[in-house]
Amino acid sequence: MTSESLTVRDNRTGQEYDVPIVDGTIKAADLGKIRPGEDQPGLAVYDPGFVNTASCRSSVTFIDGEKGILEYRGYPIEQLAENSTFLEVAYLLIHGDLPTKEQYDAWVHEITYHTFVHENVKTFMQGFRYDAHPMGMLMASVGALSTFYPDARNIGDPENRHMQIVRMIAKMPTLGAWSFRHAQGKPYVYPDNDLGYTANFLSMLFKMSESKHEADPRLVKALDVLFILHADHEQNASTNAVRSVGSTQVDPYSAVAAGVGALYGPLHGGANEAVLRMLRRIGSKENIPAFIQGVKNGDEKLMGFGHRVYKNYDPRAKIIKKACDDVFEVTGVNPLLEIAQELEKIALEDEYFVQRKLYPNVDFYSGLIYEAFQFPPEMFTVLFAIGRTPGWLAQWLELTQDKEQKIARPKQIYTGARTLDFVPAAERWA
Ligand code: ACO
Repeated sequence: MTSESLTVRDNRTGQEYDVPIVDGTIKAADLGKIRPGEDQPGLAVYDPGFVNTASCRSSVTFIDGEKGILEYRGYPIEQLAENSTFLEVAYLLIHGDLPTKEQYDAWVHEITYHTFVHENVKTFMQGFRYDAHPMGMLMASVGALSTFYPDARNIGDPENRHMQIVRMIAKMPTLGAWSFRHAQGKPYVYPDNDLGYTANFLSMLFKMSESKHEADPRLVKALDVLFILHADHEQNASTNAVRSVGSTQVDPYSAVAAGVGALYGPLHGGANEAVLRMLRRIGSKENIPAFIQGVKNGDEKLMGFGHRVYKNYDPRAKIIKKACDDVFEVTGVNPLLEIAQELEKIALEDEYFVQRKLYPNVDFYSGLIYEAFQFPPEMFTVLFAIGRTPGWLAQWLELTQDKEQKIARPKQIYTGARTLDFVPAAERWA
């Protein structure tokens, strides 16, 4: 055995096992060879929430949580947010490299000309209740696209995979905007393919009777940056959902619908909505100390703080703080910003948060920006989902080509009863 191995002594049997260490991991299957007797189950790893389990090899996104580093395909998030566009970042995530001018133009052209959806998708969406949550509508309508493109099941064909990826990145803003218009009782606006990706999205959201809706370029840029910041985050809960469902070899629309479902939850994409509710409840700076005390007593969480991976500042939160300034220059300052800034200051100096390495995450400030755009809180997660779509698809693409991947099927530790004798109802109730 080389030094890149782990020697495990099973004290139940006294036997020693050498387990290879590759890339800083051991294979869980190697532990399965450790068993106290031939007819006994092998050793397994108990890891609820996968806090220390790698589920795949990936070359999409690198995170160093301790140092607060986030890179897509090796490029630091700060540089991409400053100098790139969302569609270029989407290309980078999907293809693994930055595009040439020709590749970029072709990519933008493809995405732009797939923004329309089948008219029946519109009819389908119009069937939702007047007060349907836009995220529920988005999840259902992305899933429904699989019925419009049955060829998407052919996931072994690279050209076919590319087609579905283009369609999904292109159509997500259309579905997202229509779910917003639906809740407002306003007519759905068709895509305007003269506009860029993000400007077109804003047009589908806010256009009324004017012949063309062109948003302030500063707002377009800020939203584009927000999409870039959300584009991927390695094996987070929704990406894990996409990969897990995708591992059954289902079509990518169904896999991404699962990702949208996971993102809907308040501990994941729903946190920025919760942050705003929390800030509104706090109401003024004077109430912050009592609120913080409640958090420390365990009454509730400080939403928008803490992260499974970042134990330093979330690098995305820094960029969002800057985007706040740009947006508020156009829209005027959100009064909740003052409470948020004071809350952050107090929490960052408080022993409870320092000890647990709890810092603001991407959701702490994003809700304030979205509100300045006049998005209702229910829309925040939809915006996250549009930004995350290229990441989900890049991860899905990687999964489909990874020979080591299998259908995702964890083990359990069974804690229930065994070998009970069934007594028919007539006898039990007699
Ligand atoms: N407020 C107060 N205490 C917290 C918070 C918080 N936001 N987050 C974690 N803690 C505490 C926990 O109570 C725990 O304390 P303990 O050791 O005394 O029991 C300790 O910090 C460790 O927390 P865990 O829950 O074990 O951390 P985990 O990695 O499982 O959770 C999570 C990460 C879910 C993000 C958590 O920090 C949280 O719930 N934050 C608030 C919700 C939020 O902002 N989510 C957005 C995440 S970013 C994103 O999805 C884009």
